[in-house]
Amino acid sequence: MHGEHGDLLVGRVEPCRLIDLPEHKDPRGSLAVVESNRDVKFDINRVYYLYDLPSSTVRGAHGHRSLEQLIIAVHGRFEITVDDGYRRMRFQLDSPTKALYVGPMIWRDLINFSPGAVGLVIASMHYDESDYFREYSDFLEAARSLE
Ligand code: TYD
Repeated sequence: MHGEHGDLLVGRVEPCRLIDLPEHKDPRGSLAVVESNRDVKFDINRVYYLYDLPSSTVRGAHGHRSLEQLIIAVHGRFEITVDDGYRRMRFQLDSPTKALYVGPMIWRDLINFSPGAVGLVIASMHYDESDYFREYSDFLEAARSLE
């Protein structure tokens, strides 16, 4: 059994999925929305973004104990691999209206950034270094001991 908190599945790649965000298009242009407890099930406590990214860069490359995130390519494209210690899934983010949900106890790598890509991250918690696994071996040990 993997850990569960309420209806939140901890340490499983299955809940990691692409969400179509509500979009408002009119002749003036387009607008996409993310609302707490509607488009994402968590309370939004932090927003940050990745930009000026060399195409060969790797971002992420860490896991979180408790953090939930929504990751959006607001400009350009990139790929995300999610890994729960047993299974990996790869997602292509290529639209400002597609968001990837990443739950707790998931290792993620962000790769293959197109030129000028901007990645927006919407997070459930404030920045807290103690929530991170920075070493894959530490993550793997903790993820596999969820059983
Ligand atoms: P890092 O975790 O390496 O970025 P990512 O894993 O998303 O590629 O963070 C880079 C630096 O920014 C690191 O020194 C920590 C700092 N940082 C904050 O101060 N606040 C934040 O919310 C985040 C995400 C990072």
